[in-house]
Amino acid sequence: MRVVCLISGSGSNLQALIDCERHGQLGTATLVGVIANRPDAQGLKRAESAMIPTHVVDHRSYADRLAFDRALIDVIDPLKPDLVVLAGFMRILSDHFVEHYKGRLINIHPSLLPKYKGLDTHQRALASGDKTAGATVHWVTQALDSGEIIRQVEVPILPDDTADSLQARVLAAEHTLYPSVVRDLSLGVISPCDA
Ligand code: GRF
Repeated sequence: MRVVCLISGSGSNLQALIDCERHGQLGTATLVGVIANRPDAQGLKRAESAMIPTHVVDHRSYADRLAFDRALIDVIDPLKPDLVVLAGFMRILSDHFVEHYKGRLINIHPSLLPKYKGLDTHQRALASGDKTAGATVHWVTQALDSGEIIRQVEVPILPDDTADSLQARVLAAEHTLYPSVVRDLSLGVISPCDA
């Protein structure tokens, strides 16, 4: 299963995928390309160290969202992905892009969806007095953070948690969750959906 990963920043989830592939824990999945919308995305270095081809499609070079998304597609399609993995990719994607990769596009979101779509998820979980938080991997559809849920991981919220400490706990859990989903998709343990 050919996997293309889209990032914007640190790329710690990408690193988790790289590490699992290296240790033979990613089923039949192979990372065939990493694309960032920012030339300074740290995750690009992680990909280069792992000898994965990288590409930058800088959103600031395009007049509008659709032009950017078309340029992204032009870079992604030649990589012939079976799966496009959003891993901290901080751009809202156009309907055109989502439709183009329908059923092949997944995202990881740092909350127990359907709670806390969008930003500041950890702050909002704390403000609500929640006892648990977590992360969700879901199919991407046109509505933000609303596609069918594939798998979730839950972590406790501790009494003295700050948004930062909670974020660190959730992120560590993401690093197990995301590779498990990619592996199970590659092995057919999780079925593709119509998205
Ligand atoms: C993660 O918390 C992920 O859930 C969210 O963006 C963050 C990306 O972190 N979508 P990283 O770039 O993988 O370190």
